[in-house]
Amino acid sequence: MNHKNGSFSGSMGFILACVGSAVGLGNIWLFPYRLGQYGGAAFLLPYLFFICLFGLTGLSAEFAIGRRARTGTLGSYELCWSRRRLGSAGRILGWIPLLGSLGIAIGYSIIIGWVLRSLGGALTGALLTQDSASYFAEATGSFGSLPWHFAVVVITVLVLVTGSVSQIERTNRVMMPVFFLLFTIIAIRVFFLPGSGAGYHFLFVPRWEALLNVDTWVMAMGQAFFSLSITGSGMIVYGSYLNSREDIVGASLRTALFDTIAALLSALAIMPAVFAFRIEPGSGPSLMFITIPKIFAQMPMGRFFAVLFFLSVAFAGITSLINMFEAVSESLQHRFGISRRTAVAFCSVICFAVGVFLEPEAKVGGCMDFITILIVPFGAVLGAISVYYIYGYREIRKELETGRSRPLPGWFGGIACGLYVPLTVLVFILGIIYKGIG
Ligand code: ALA
Repeated sequence: MNHKNGSFSGSMGFILACVGSAVGLGNIWLFPYRLGQYGGAAFLLPYLFFICLFGLTGLSAEFAIGRRARTGTLGSYELCWSRRRLGSAGRILGWIPLLGSLGIAIGYSIIIGWVLRSLGGALTGALLTQDSASYFAEATGSFGSLPWHFAVVVITVLVLVTGSVSQIERTNRVMMPVFFLLFTIIAIRVFFLPGSGAGYHFLFVPRWEALLNVDTWVMAMGQAFFSLSITGSGMIVYGSYLNSREDIVGASLRTALFDTIAALLSALAIMPAVFAFRIEPGSGPSLMFITIPKIFAQMPMGRFFAVLFFLSVAFAGITSLINMFEAVSESLQHRFGISRRTAVAFCSVICFAVGVFLEPEAKVGGCMDFITILIVPFGAVLGAISVYYIYGYREIRKELETGRSRPLPGWFGGIACGLYVPLTVLVFILGIIYKGIG
């Protein structure tokens, strides 16, 4: 039986939607800097280990419980905990990751507003003729990006109310291939910049001693969770729109593969250019909104490439935001029996109304740190425990094997229950310590 919001047409549409959710600001503004900062190629080892582990077991768990429950976050937690006659606890617990998704959506929509504003500035040329630091300071002043922020929310709402799941699929089918194509063009262009070699050196020469540093492992784990959108919420709702002919584990691994390609492509498009123009590499807002415009301002055909860059970032961000809005709206629909349009409208009003007061950069930064270090791992922990321990591996295994031509290998349960769940707990504890110290 399909979800009343519809279902994905097949594995390609599903995987593109999941890649759309996974590929976002985490890949573009966090990954390149962290790769260079935490040991270059040495960082890739723990990162790829966590991506494989979390992709295999964490993503699969979220997709499987969504498909089993045929509904998103709130209904899925209720289903898990009902198996232990604790359905009312599940009804309450589900709100935690769901509010996490709403919190990320609030911060995300503000940042994508800055991206749209920069895209507008690239189109008119203002972004490259003005000093990029003051251009960005205007955007992050109180109410400095209001129309752009509003436009982001409106675009997302339009995607969600004009055709449910089919429209999510169509949007991702266009935006994701365009993102990969444009970033490939930028990475190739950057390769030919004189002096770009130092950037490849920063990114890929392994500094093995970084592996002795606990921070490297903590950052690799946190980055892998955030990048794969394993938040105990967003991927559940996409799983609920997946038909039973599809192989969940295969789709999870493909999602993780494309997410990693996107992260590496972002690193190849950004860092060599930063070094070619002898600019100090930084992370977060300063990299994306101040450093990168400076590079385009000095580069031949810089305005053209600036438009391509900010257009691709906007696509990556909007496809992630669509998933966050969908997670919240579907759960409101399910819990309160309201129409999809009412649920989406409610979610968008909250997102915009709260976001307006968080627009100044420092407030968004603080909010996003709190969310990525504490809320995301907590949601991931709750999801992992709820699915593999509370609902139980034996039950979820049936769902994981539905649509597969072969049974799951025997070691899968050991990896999921014996390694993945304890590791998610560890990430969360380290996150608290980290946040406390930081
Ligand atoms: N997974 C999304 C990102 O990387 C949220 O930004």
